Amino acid sequence: MDIVVSGIRSTGNLHLGNYFGMIRNAVKMQSENKCFFFIADYHALTTHPNPDTLHVNIKQVLAEYLACGIDPDVSTLFIQSDVPQVSELYLLLNMNAYIGELERTASFKEKVRRHPDNVNAGLLTYPVLMAADIIIHKANKVPVGKDQEQHLEMTRKFARRFNQLYKTEYFPEPDAYNFGSDLIKIPGLDGSGKMGKSEGNGIFLIDDPSVIKKKVMSAVTDTGPTALNQEPSEPVKNLFSIMEVLSEPSTIEYFREKHAACEIRYGDMKKQLAEDIIRFTTPIRERINEILSDSLSLRKIVGEGAEKARESASRTISEVRKIIGYRPF
Ligand code: TYM
Repeated sequence: MDIVVSGIRSTGNLHLGNYFGMIRNAVKMQSENKCFFFIADYHALTTHPNPDTLHVNIKQVLAEYLACGIDPDVSTLFIQSDVPQVSELYLLLNMNAYIGELERTASFKEKVRRHPDNVNAGLLTYPVLMAADIIIHKANKVPVGKDQEQHLEMTRKFARRFNQLYKTEYFPEPDAYNFGSDLIKIPGLDGSGKMGKSEGNGIFLIDDPSVIKKKVMSAVTDTGPTALNQEPSEPVKNLFSIMEVLSEPSTIEYFREKHAACEIRYGDMKKQLAEDIIRFTTPIRERINEILSDSLSLRKIVGEGAEKARESASRTISEVRKIIGYRPF
């Protein structure tokens, strides 16, 4: 049995990338492993949400996790800020994390490029907090999408460094996980890059069918293939990538053949893709709305989750304190 930890930042609604990059695996893993899934609401502070938005987003992500099939009776589902022990481990790990390596992290460089007016220390040490989230439960598997691969490498590095420094084998080195396959990257609808919460290129699980149709129909494509068996351009490949995760194999095959024969009509392909997405998201959307209306159950779920997560985290913290040399007189 593995120990599994993963999280989602509460900075907006969940999209298809979150589902196929992380949640789908998390749901599959929960019955046979000891799983901790959480809402990363400390990480969300890097973008300075106002108090009301912060709260609403946490509740939304919680309902979305549940609607996708995370079972709080089987997994530990909790809110990061309910487990302050993680911030102690974050502080301790920060002493062995070097500015140079943090500055070289791709996600940090990207944030600096996009938001030069908000390069805060929380962003710089984001991977340290993420490592603390994972190793505080001594996890060995972390279901994540491709975009988190480098953060997982850093988590392994911080765990290894702690072990070496204190001549111990206390922390396992966790792996990014996707059932033996490569990690997934779901592209956006704007022709390049990954689907993201704030990129304006995503389909959210909560989107109404009419919104989904509109978004998909206006996805970027090209002017059509000009030679037989031509490799699709990047924007078209991206549409196929989304089809790969939620359409029938025969549908994908059909449009691939049409493309290879230069007979494809992107309008038809998009119509089909929109239908397939709507078929996939409709039951999830309905459950999200039901779950959101039951505040009492939500409160109970996160209360119990927090207790279980704190128990596991406190154990680690007291052992780590001893290893570091904080001892009773
Ligand atoms: P976040 O909130 O950006 O994304 C949550 C999960 O969704 C995956 N994901 C994607 N997968 C495939 N294609 C995409 N387009 C796509 N977009 C997002 C992410 O890989 C992730 O698995 N730093 C994390 C949150 C976090 C965390 C952790 C994760 C904090 N502590 C500890 C794991 C373990 C983040 O911002 O994910």
